[in-house]
Amino acid sequence: MHRKLDILADTGYAVMRDWQGPPIAPAEWESLTYLDWKSGGDTNFAPLASATGELDCRGFWDHGKPDKDGIWTQNRELAPSLCRYVEGIGGNFGRVRVIKLNPSDEATALRQLHRDDNNRLNPDGCGWVVRSWLELDDTAEQSVFILREQKDDPATETRIALHPGMQLIIDTERLHHVVWHPGPQPRYALITSWESDDVIDKWISNETQPAPASVTVPRPGQPDLVSAVQLSGESATSAPLRARQPRLPQRTGRAAGTARPHRRRPGPAWRGRRSRDRRGRSWPRATR
Ligand SMILES: [Fe+2]
Repeated sequence: MHRKLDILADTGYAVMRDWQGPPIAPAEWESLTYLDWKSGGDTNFAPLASATGELDCRGFWDHGKPDKDGIWTQNRELAPSLCRYVEGIGGNFGRVRVIKLNPSDEATALRQLHRDDNNRLNPDGCGWVVRSWLELDDTAEQSVFILREQKDDPATETRIALHPGMQLIIDTERLHHVVWHPGPQPRYALITSWESDDVIDKWISNETQPAPASVTVPRPGQPDLVSAVQLSGESATSAPLRARQPRLPQRTGRAAGTARPHRRRPGPAWRGRRSRDRRGRSWPRATR
């Protein structure tokens, strides 16, 4: 039996507030050494911490250890702010990687739904390994995390629209997951494995106060957001998208007490420059 985080018990994930720290220059993820490693789509990964400190995307089990006690790689010198972000959290991290996800269509993304093998070699009595995301650069609010309790059952699905600066934590060994990223530019995110312990519990608690505006997108055919929320076990913090994919239905009503308008709250790290998505709308991005 492993220790698990109470906050993930109901849904398997938590959306935290945007990163409030100092700006992180895009050069920190754009200049890294990426390896061709496919996981969840057309992906490349830049290891910041690995099992041995080498640029290695393989599971820690290949080196006889669970996914914790990660060792910084040479990429650390190119991404000092990203590494400080991880160290500042203070927990026991395993693999720390920047993912570069190339665009895909929705059907292709759904075929990549998978669960991670986070706890191989993790002894009973230790903390369950989960993963966190810090979104770095994507198509704001069009890139969507798709989570399912059952891989082939859309009724168990939750969608979370992403934007730069967003922080999430997901039990990816419990939930099938994938990011649908329409592009046109690649999406980057920092992904970190964490052992569940008091430090991570406190970090999540701190980063979810006040409760963030989680963005859950109903699938076409689902009656409304509230149904999607109830099916997924999401709490009352879900909210409609302010801007969304044209193929996704606009939500027209709101059940009292179940959802509230989504307000993007970019932290200071994500102000400074703007980019345009494929529909010509502009979004704040991190200062270079
Ligand atoms: Fe995964």
